[in-house]
Amino acid sequence: MADKPTPADKFTFGLWTVGYNGTDPFGGPTRPPLDTVHAVERLAELGAYGLTFHDDDLFAFGSTEDARRTEIDRLKAALAATGLKVPMITTNLFSAPVFKDGGFTSNDRQVRRYALRKVLRNLDLAAELGAETFVMWGGREGAEYDAAKDVRSALSRYKEAVDLLSEYVLDKKYGIRFAIEPKPNEPRGDILLPTVGHALAFINSLEHPELVGLNPEVGHEQMAGLNFQAGIAQALYHGKLFHIDLNGQRSIKYDQDLVFGHGDLHNAFALVDLLENGGVLGERAYDGPRHFDYKPSRTEDETGVWDSAAANMRIYLLLKERAAAFRADPEVQAALEAAKVAELASPTLNAGESYDDLLADRSAWEDFQPDAYFGAKGFGFVRLQQLATEHLLGAR
Ligand code: GCO
Ligand code: MN
Ligand code: MN
Repeated sequence: MADKPTPADKFTFGLWTVGYNGTDPFGGPTRPPLDTVHAVERLAELGAYGLTFHDDDLFAFGSTEDARRTEIDRLKAALAATGLKVPMITTNLFSAPVFKDGGFTSNDRQVRRYALRKVLRNLDLAAELGAETFVMWGGREGAEYDAAKDVRSALSRYKEAVDLLSEYVLDKKYGIRFAIEPKPNEPRGDILLPTVGHALAFINSLEHPELVGLNPEVGHEQMAGLNFQAGIAQALYHGKLFHIDLNGQRSIKYDQDLVFGHGDLHNAFALVDLLENGGVLGERAYDGPRHFDYKPSRTEDETGVWDSAAANMRIYLLLKERAAAFRADPEVQAALEAAKVAELASPTLNAGESYDDLLADRSAWEDFQPDAYFGAKGFGFVRLQQLATEHLLGAR
């Protein structure tokens, strides 16, 4: 069951994911550091398409220009040798003590100027490596205490930063788009742009909204109790799904970063069905990288790291196979028909129909008998969900 992953599947991994050494707020590392070249080689062997990273994952914060260049060149040689790509990079504006109150939105203006310089420098690196997407996850852009952060000013400073960066990529003619990654909390008590919806609204306030989209993460929406698949559908509706972070989360708690599918499996199934099959609209909805932002649990050794990396890709491909079987099943098609799922795609008004025409249509009101029409009839949504679950279990 399920083919082996190949680069055509566009599976990508953050260097910080397989490179996670097990540190958490209660304990130090349980694994030794992972060398970048080794990570690239192992990911290529497993069938991945690409690697992503933060500047500080590749070369330590504060590195000299020589040390930085050495690491970049080692990476480039490993990419050339394996064929792995770097479709996305991102900037660490959250680990160094200077960013304790954020980067773009620190209350301290000097810190904000330093953060902008760090990101501009990293944009040059993104262009050098041919990355198309530049993710912005504002982990420290937030607060614990309401009086400590003026949220309207913070959003103005966020906009100022994104506008400047947009102007820079346009002037430099870099083929780069930005993807904002929402998260409700952790490490801050409350993070700015906490959900897909907040971030979509913020993008409308920018000078170059066409350059800015989203990088939603499964676990982050689920930490807010939200339906990830539904959030992705809305991002697609707005043309803003620029990138995606796949992982697993089990309910509203700390950011677990489990393997994709090791959390809410039903929602993962619906997500893959949406990305691959477009749901009832029937067209592949997203062509970009399938990026895994997970953490191999700190209980694992290096074998467990690569097993868990492979597990993400295998789960995705299994779900893809299960979703195809679901869509092809005549009983599912009949249940979808009975549930009128496709009918929602038909406009409510006839072509050219005005409100006067609607007001004149007696069948829509005067002659319509709501109770007689729907009183005794159900949609059969539960049957549909049961069929989905049986496909998910491989029982059909
Ligand atoms: C997290 C985030 C990060 C970002 C990464 C890329 O919760 O820690 O998901 O892993 O995805 O910083 O910007
Ligand atoms: Mn996360
Ligand atoms: Mn993420």
